[in-house]
Amino acid sequence: MSILLEMTREHVPVLAGEVIELTDPRPGETVVDCTFGGGGHARLLADRVSPDGTVIGIDRDPAARSRFEEFAAEARCETRFVQADFGAALAELVAEGTHADMILLDLGVSSFQIDALDRGFSYVYDAPLDMRMDPGQEFSAADLVNGWDERRMSNTFDRYGEERYSRQIAREIVRRRDERPITTTQQLVDAIVAAVPVPARFAGGHPAKRVFQAIRIAVNDELGQLERALPLAWEALSIGGRLAVISFHSLEDRAVKRYFADLARGCVCPPEFPICTCGRTPQAELVSRRAIAPTPGEIAHNPRAKSGKLRVARKIAADRIPDPGEIGL
Ligand SMILES: C[S@@+](CC[C@H](N)C(=O)[O-])C[C@H]1O[C@@H](n2cnc3c(N)ncnc32)[C@H](O)[C@@H]1O
Repeated sequence: MSILLEMTREHVPVLAGEVIELTDPRPGETVVDCTFGGGGHARLLADRVSPDGTVIGIDRDPAARSRFEEFAAEARCETRFVQADFGAALAELVAEGTHADMILLDLGVSSFQIDALDRGFSYVYDAPLDMRMDPGQEFSAADLVNGWDERRMSNTFDRYGEERYSRQIAREIVRRRDERPITTTQQLVDAIVAAVPVPARFAGGHPAKRVFQAIRIAVNDELGQLERALPLAWEALSIGGRLAVISFHSLEDRAVKRYFADLARGCVCPPEFPICTCGRTPQAELVSRRAIAPTPGEIAHNPRAKSGKLRVARKIAADRIPDPGEIGL
C-alpha cells in the first residue's frame, strides 16, 4: 500500500500566511479545502473557523483520507471529507445547497504523492509509470507514453512542460516503445536523457523534470479540472465569500487571472455609448491586483513553493457565473 512507502511525513503548505491573511476566515464560517493533501492549509483554516465553523476537505486521492481522519480527530470544529475530484465534489455541495465562506484550491501534487515510492510521480525513484492522483482512474502515464502518437506527446511536452527538446524526446520514446513497452519511470528517464543533447543534460535541473510535469498534468487533466471547478466554486460561495487559488503553472495562473478579471469586470458597452445597455455589474472584487508569490525566505525553506502564485477574489454579487468556454480559458 502506497502510504507505507511514503518517504515524507509532511507537506509544507505553500503561501499559507498569505492565504490566511487575504481570505481572513472567521469563527463560525464554512470553508472548503478542495485540495486537502496533507491538511497543512486545512489546519490553519480550522483554527480560524473554530469552534462552531466547518472545514470540508476534498481530495481525489484516497490516500488523503487517513490524513484527513488524523486532522479531524484534532480539529475543534466540524469536519467532513469528500473523496472525489473537486469539480464533482463542488457540484455535490452546490446541489445540496451548501454555502461556503471561503474556498481554497492549492493545485498540483502533494509531497506525499511525489515522494510515494510506488506512484511514479518522481523521476528520482524507479517505479511503475503511473502518476494518477486517483488510482481509480483508468488512464495512467504508461497509457500516455505507450499509446499517444509522437506529435501529440511532443505537443504535450511543449505545452505543459515548456520542454525545449519535446520533439526529440517524443521521437526517442516512440523508437524505444516499438522495441518494448515503457512501463517504469527509469525507462522513461533513460529515453529522455538519451534524447537531450549532452550539454543540456547538465543545465536547467534534471533533464526529465519538465516531461514528468507535462505527463502528470495531462494524465490528471489538471487544466480541464481547473476550468470545470472555477464556476462551481464561484456558485458555491456565499456573498462576501473568498475564492483563493494557488497555481504552479503559467497556464493555470492565466486561467485563474482571466476568470477573476471577467468576474471583476462591470459594464462592457463601447465607450461611445451614452448610457450602459449591457447591464453588466462586477461580481467580484480582486483582493490583490497582482498574483502573490512566495518570499525568498519561504522558497529557501520550501523549494517546492518556488513557482506558486496566489490569487484571491471576493464575491460581491450573484447575478452571473462566467462560463470558462466563453472567456476562452
Ligand atoms: C498541492 S497538494 C495540496 C496540499 C495541501 N494544501 C496541504 O497543505 O497539505 C494538492 C492535492 O490536491 C489533490 N488534487 C489535485 N487535483 C485535484 C482535483 N482535480 N480534485 C481533487 N483533488 C485534487 C491532490 O491529490 C493533492 O493531494
